[in-house]
Amino acid sequence: MENLPQHVAIILDGNGRWAKRKGLPRTAGHAAGAKNVETITIAASNMGIRYLTLYAFSTENWKRSVDEVSTIMSLLAKYLIRCRDLALANNIRVRFLGDLTGLSENLQKTCADVTRETAGGTGMTLAIALNYGGRDEIVRAVNRLRKENPEGEITEEFFSSFLDTVGMPDPDLMIRTSGEERISNFLPWQLCYSEFYFTDVAWPDFSEDELRKACEAYASRDRRFGGVK
Ligand code: IPE
Ligand code: IPE
Ligand code: MG
Repeated sequence: MENLPQHVAIILDGNGRWAKRKGLPRTAGHAAGAKNVETITIAASNMGIRYLTLYAFSTENWKRSVDEVSTIMSLLAKYLIRCRDLALANNIRVRFLGDLTGLSENLQKTCADVTRETAGGTGMTLAIALNYGGRDEIVRAVNRLRKENPEGEITEEFFSSFLDTVGMPDPDLMIRTSGEERISNFLPWQLCYSEFYFTDVAWPDFSEDELRKACEAYASRDRRFGGVK
């Protein structure tokens, strides 16, 4: 594909509504959504996308019922193990964005293990945003910056190096599934010049074909970054 986005970031939305339409509990939607993460990760890697960032759980998602949150957390624990095997088999490197200290000790350990074990992957980088909030990320960055560099001059580049995404290029394309057209605290710094693509398709139904459609739409955009072409 010509003009393929190098970095695709996706807000995986619509699991709950997908389940409701089928007369199933919201948690069934999360299970279907977790399965689809594998499909799309492989598809993106095969397409030659270099970075795939997936918004899996936000700092605001703790507002949901205890039942829903605990189902999501146990799906995550299960999924991350499969994700490690899938990453190792496909030369994918996995990293995490977000405040992992807010997760259970077990989950934190799994995240650390998956990061370490896949660190040698030279193909696609898969970044999973867990307990991630863009404002939280910026505030954590500022607090670390204040400690480590209390008086030095701050440039955009230097500031970026304190963000969770350090070392990654900004997303070229941001996709949100399931009809909502907002960013819901996802990568506010990094999405400054990204192209946005919204689709009504719910995350569990977002297929490789849908990903290709989004990338084709991206390929026809005219990115100017404030300049003139
Ligand atoms: C996305 O689906 C998954 C998470 C936010 C964890 P939702 O659970 O937000 O599904 P809807 O938006 O309620 O349909
Ligand atoms: C954004 O979806 C968070 C994730 C997909 C992880 P939400 O479903 O939480 O966002 P809102 O509440 O519709 O803005
Ligand atoms: Mg939602």
